[in-house]
Amino acid sequence: MTNKTIVFGKGYLGHRISNKMDCDLTGINLLEKKELADYLDHEKPDVVINAAGKTGRPNIDWCETHKQETVEGNIIAASNLCMECSKRGIYFVHIGSGGVYNGDNNGKGFNEEDEPDFYGSQFYARTKIISEKILNEFPSLLLRIQMPLDEIPHKRNLIDKLKDYSKLINAQNSMTTIPHMLDAITYLTNKRSQGIYNIVNPGTISASEIMTYYKEIIDPSHNFEMISLASLDNFTVGKRCNCYLNSDKLKKEGFELPEIHKAVVSCLKNYKNALINLKNNKY
Ligand SMILES: NC(=O)c1ccc[n+]([C@@H]2O[C@H](COP(=O)([O-])OP(=O)(O)OC[C@H]3O[C@@H](n4cnc5c(N)ncnc54)[C@H](OP(=O)(O)O)[C@@H]3O)[C@@H](O)[C@H]2O)c1
Repeated sequence: MTNKTIVFGKGYLGHRISNKMDCDLTGINLLEKKELADYLDHEKPDVVINAAGKTGRPNIDWCETHKQETVEGNIIAASNLCMECSKRGIYFVHIGSGGVYNGDNNGKGFNEEDEPDFYGSQFYARTKIISEKILNEFPSLLLRIQMPLDEIPHKRNLIDKLKDYSKLINAQNSMTTIPHMLDAITYLTNKRSQGIYNIVNPGTISASEIMTYYKEIIDPSHNFEMISLASLDNFTVGKRCNCYLNSDKLKKEGFELPEIHKAVVSCLKNYKNALINLKNNKY
């Protein structure tokens, strides 16, 4: 008998995950508990993947001024789905955030046992930390992704975001390349792994390095200015975190994403082909 998987949250990642897994995608409101319970009882999934949440538009600064909606979307909605799955013995997977630390932890990177510490300066991150702590009290697979970068053009793809910025920082960060993240989710879900996993590529990279590759591979005429991390704070409401996450736990579980520079170059080459196909109306 095949397993029935349903992805919740009809956003960017929800669509990417459901397409990859060739499974149902629903935008049912997770704050409506009765409707949610009826839906699960009717559909009887074996696996539920939560890609719903409030990420803010145009960016996470929206969360600073929409705290109620952010708590509802990132904490209450996720908790409702997790608990309803737990009651029914449904395997629950949650797409969380790696942006819950700051720094590189003395060069070691932060692992899943390290206590998240990015509490002070960004409301979105605080809701992701709180939800992770709640969900971790129940049987669940909690996947921390960080600055997802994709091989197809989309306004939520990091490449598209960076393309629009004239000023970039050169701080090093962990990042998640989406095609490889999708393979990791499939792998861990098939294994029914549980607990927290950092789903990032080994190594770190900066926004300016990515756009230097972009110039080489896609558009030599593209220009940007480098600014310091401190001056970035002048352009954002909430602080942005820069952190290095350690991915050894994922490797021990039997899966490793490709090294970040190689993975970014591979995504940029595929992105270039996708742009050509778009131009030729192949999609
Ligand atoms: N993309 C990233 O950079 C990134 C990085 C790390 C972690 N994540 C996490 O990954 C998850 C998915 O991100 P994404 O990039 O796909 O975000 P997205 O494009 O904003 O999609 C999130 C979806 O969740 C929906 N949603 C919000 N509240 C809901 C509720 N109560 N019930 C049902 N659906 C609800 C949203 O609907 P509305 O538009 O109507 O609110 C939206 O369709 C989020 O939890 C996010 O925090 C994303």
